[in-house]
Amino acid sequence: MRDGQPGTPIRLADYQVPAYLVDEVLLDVDLFDEHTRVNATLHMRRHPQAPAGADCLLNGVGLTLDALMLEGEPLAQDAWQYDGEQLVLRGMPEVFTLTTRVTIEPQLNTALEGLYVSRGMFCTQCEAEGFRRITFFPDRPDVLSRFSTTVRADKARFPVLLSNGNPVARGEEGGRHWVTWEDPFPKPCYLFALVAGDLACLEDRYRTGSGREITLQLFAEERDLDKLDHAMASLKAAMAWDERTYGLEYDLDIYMIVAVSHFNMGAMENKGLNIFNTACVLAHPKTTTDAGFQRVEAVVAHEYFHNWSGNRVTCRDWFQLSLKEGFTVFRDQSFSADMNSVAVKRVEDVDMLRTVQFPEDQGPMAHPVRPAEYHKIDNFYTVTIYEKGAELVRMQHGLLGPERFRAGTDLYFSRFDGQAVTTDDFVDCMAEAGGIDLTQFRRWYSQAGTPRLEASDSVVEGEYRLTLRQSTPATPGQPDKLPLMIPVKLALLGTDGAALPLDDDGRTETVLVLTEAEQTFRFSVPGNQAPVPSLLRGFSAPVALDYDFSPAQLRFLLAHDSDGYCRWDAAQRLYHAAVKRLLSDPSGADAEAAALAPALEQVLSRAMTDPAEAALLLTLPGEVAIGDRLEVLEPDQVHAARSALQAALGRQLAQRWWQAEQACTTTGPYRPTAADIGRRSLRHRALGYLAAAADTQIASHLAALCRDADNMTDQLGALRLLVHYRLPGASQALADFAAQWHDEALVMDQWFAVQATVPGEQTLTQVRALLAHTDFDWRVPNRVRGLLGSFANANPTAFHAASGDGYRLYAEALARLDEVNPQIAARMAGACARLPRLPAARREALAAALRDLLSRSRSANLREMLERILASAG
Ligand code: PHE
Ligand code: ZN
Repeated sequence: MRDGQPGTPIRLADYQVPAYLVDEVLLDVDLFDEHTRVNATLHMRRHPQAPAGADCLLNGVGLTLDALMLEGEPLAQDAWQYDGEQLVLRGMPEVFTLTTRVTIEPQLNTALEGLYVSRGMFCTQCEAEGFRRITFFPDRPDVLSRFSTTVRADKARFPVLLSNGNPVARGEEGGRHWVTWEDPFPKPCYLFALVAGDLACLEDRYRTGSGREITLQLFAEERDLDKLDHAMASLKAAMAWDERTYGLEYDLDIYMIVAVSHFNMGAMENKGLNIFNTACVLAHPKTTTDAGFQRVEAVVAHEYFHNWSGNRVTCRDWFQLSLKEGFTVFRDQSFSADMNSVAVKRVEDVDMLRTVQFPEDQGPMAHPVRPAEYHKIDNFYTVTIYEKGAELVRMQHGLLGPERFRAGTDLYFSRFDGQAVTTDDFVDCMAEAGGIDLTQFRRWYSQAGTPRLEASDSVVEGEYRLTLRQSTPATPGQPDKLPLMIPVKLALLGTDGAALPLDDDGRTETVLVLTEAEQTFRFSVPGNQAPVPSLLRGFSAPVALDYDFSPAQLRFLLAHDSDGYCRWDAAQRLYHAAVKRLLSDPSGADAEAAALAPALEQVLSRAMTDPAEAALLLTLPGEVAIGDRLEVLEPDQVHAARSALQAALGRQLAQRWWQAEQACTTTGPYRPTAADIGRRSLRHRALGYLAAAADTQIASHLAALCRDADNMTDQLGALRLLVHYRLPGASQALADFAAQWHDEALVMDQWFAVQATVPGEQTLTQVRALLAHTDFDWRVPNRVRGLLGSFANANPTAFHAASGDGYRLYAEALARLDEVNPQIAARMAGACARLPRLPAARREALAAALRDLLSRSRSANLREMLERILASAG
C-alpha cells in the first residue's frame, strides 16, 4: 500500500513466498553529518517454490539511488523500476549478485525508524519495516540472511561502532575509522542493528551451563554509566533462568545493549545488539522508582528471551507477530514471577490485561491475536498481540502441564531453529508433545473479542451443579463467534474455608474444559451445603466472568481463598459494587466504607506477612477501570464516587493506615528486592488513603518525605499525592523537584506526568502550559507519552471534560505529533477508542475533533487509527 492513500489491506490469506532469497548481504555504512552512504551487496537466489521469471522485489523507502549493479555492471535501464517504495527487477537469473549504493539522511529522521540520530548517536530501529529506509532489501521476516556490516565514522566523535554478531576487522584512515561485524546466524533484516557514538560501557562476563564465556556489554552515555548495574544483574539472571527453565543457552560470544533516549517502543531484540529505550534499561535508586526497576528487569529479560523466541525461530510474516511476542511475554512474566512473587506478578498481569486489553478487545480496535489483515503493521503492536497472546500460551501451558509444555517448546525450538514460522506451527508442537487435540483451541488466535463466561450453580441432593455458558460479542468484521475451548480452574470452598475434595483422589482443584456454548459440571459435596465457588483460579483464561457473588461470598473468598488472583478479584468486585452504588449519590460513601472496613482491617492485620499482596488487595480499581465496566462512561460521576469512597476509607481507618505506614517504612539503603518493594507499595497505599482523607498530618508528612527521601519511589510517590490532592506545599514540591532533577530526562518525564494527571478540567490549562514548556520536546517519545499519553489515558475527568476542550487539545497535539513521528501519533490515538461508550454530547465532540484531525493527518498510520475509531461513532 502507498503511504498517503487509503489502500487495500494486506491479507494473511494472500501470503506468498518471496520470489528471491538473500543468502548473504554485505553492508557498508559511511556515516557523515549531512548524509549517510549505504553500499549493499546482496547474494540472491530464486526461491525454490517461486515460478521462474517472477520479478525480484526489493523494498526501499526514501532512498536516493546512486548506483545499481548486477554482477558489478550497471543494470540496464529497462530491467528495473523504482517508484519510491519498491524496486522491481525484471528478468533476473536464478542466482545473482546485486550491488546498490544509496544516500539517506538520518540526521533529519524524526520518525525514529530506520537509521536516525539520538543525542548525537547514530542508531537503528528496523522492526517492523525500518530496514527498507536504510537500503534496498526484501524487507519481510521470511527472508533470512547472513549479515556482514562495516560501519565507518569520524573516530573522535564516534569512537564506538557496533553492529550484530562479532567484530572481525577494524582500521582507520585520516580522522575516520571503521569496524566490520559478522553475524553467523541468518536473520531477517528487522533484526539488523547499527550504532555509532561516544558511549561508556559496563562490561561483565557470563559463563553458560556448557562452559562458554560470553562477554556482556551495556552501553550508555558517560553520565548514565552508574545506572547500568540493575540491567546487568537482570541480564545474567535471565540467561541463567532460560537455561534452567527452557534449556536454552545464548549462542554468540558477545551480547550488547545500547541505551538511547529517542525510542518509539520499550526495547528491541536485534541479534546480539539490543537497543533500549533509556526508560527500560537505566536504573538508579535516586532516579528510578520500584516500578522502573521492575520494568528494567522484565524488559531486559524479554529482549534476551527473544534470542530464541523470535530470533532463532522467527515469524513467517507480520500476521504471526504474536508467535514471538505472546510467547516472549509469557516467558518474561514467568521469569519476573520466579524472581519476585508468583501471586503478585499474576495479579499485576491480570490487572493490566483487564484494564488495557479488555477495552481494546471490546472497542473499535478489537483484532484477533493473529489478525487476518492490516494496513500499517506498526499499529498492531498492541496489548492484544502481546498480553492476550501471552495468555494463549499460558492456557496451553495450563492444558499441558509444565513437563509436557516443556516437551512442546523443546520440539518447537529444535524443529524450527533457523526458520520463519507461524502460530499454527507453535500450536502443532504443543498438540503433538501434549498428546491433545487443540483444533478448537486455535480459534483463540483468529477470533477477536473478550469472551464472556456466565456461571450459575445450585446444590441438589448432595450434588453441586455448575453451569458455564460462553459467548463472545461481535467485533468489527467478525459478527458471529464460535465457542472456544476455555480452561476454567475451579475449587469449591466449604463453610470452614477449606477447599473440598473434588474427586476420589482427594484433589481440591480441577480444570474444567468448556468447549460447548453451555455445559453443566457436577460434583458431589458433603451434606446439602452450597460451597463457595472459587472460579477461574489463577485467571486460567482471558474471559470476563459473570457470577452473581453475594457480598458475603466475596468477603469469604477474600479471607479464605488460597488462590491469590481469586482473593484479589473478590476485593475488586466488592469495590466495583460499592463505587457503582455511589455513582448516583456519593453521600452514601461513609456507609459503604463502613461495610467494607472490617474486610480491609482483616487484610491490614495480616499485611506484614506479604505487604505486596496486601497493597494490591487494598487498591481500589482506577477511574478508567470503573468507567469501563459501565454501560456509558460517566467520568465525573466515577471520579466523585471513587474519591468519596477512598476518602471515607481513609478517615475511618486512619489509625490503621498510619500504623501500616510506620510498619512499612524501610530502613537501610534502598534495595529493589521484592520484599522491600512490597513494603513501599503498602506504605504508599496507606499514604494514598490518608491523602484522600485530607488527614491533618498528611501534607507536612508528604512534603517532608518528598524533600528527604533517598529514593525516587518515595520521593515521586509523595509528590504525586501532594499534587493530585492539591495539598499545601504541592507547588513548592513541584518546583523543588524540577530544580533537583532538571538534568535527568527520565525523572522529568514523571514530573510532566504527575501534573498531567491531576483530576479535573483545570488541568487542561496546565497541559497547555506544559506543551509550551522549554523542556517539552515533540521529538522525544518518552516526553510526549509522559505529558500527553498520561493525560489522555490516565486523567478521565480532564480528557473527557464536558466542554470537549480536552478532545480538541488532544487532537491538535496529535496533528502536530503526526508531522514529527507518525507511529507515536497513531499509537496515542488509541486513547480515543472509548468513543462509542461516551455519553452522546461527548461522543459528538470527540468525533468532531477526530474528523477534523483526520482531514489534516498526513500519515497512513494515524489515518488508519482514526478511521477505525470514527467508524464506531455510529
Ligand atoms: N520487538 C520489540 C519487543 O521486544 C518491540 C518493538 C517493536 C520495538 C517495534 C521497536 C519497534 O517487544
Ligand atoms: Zn518483544
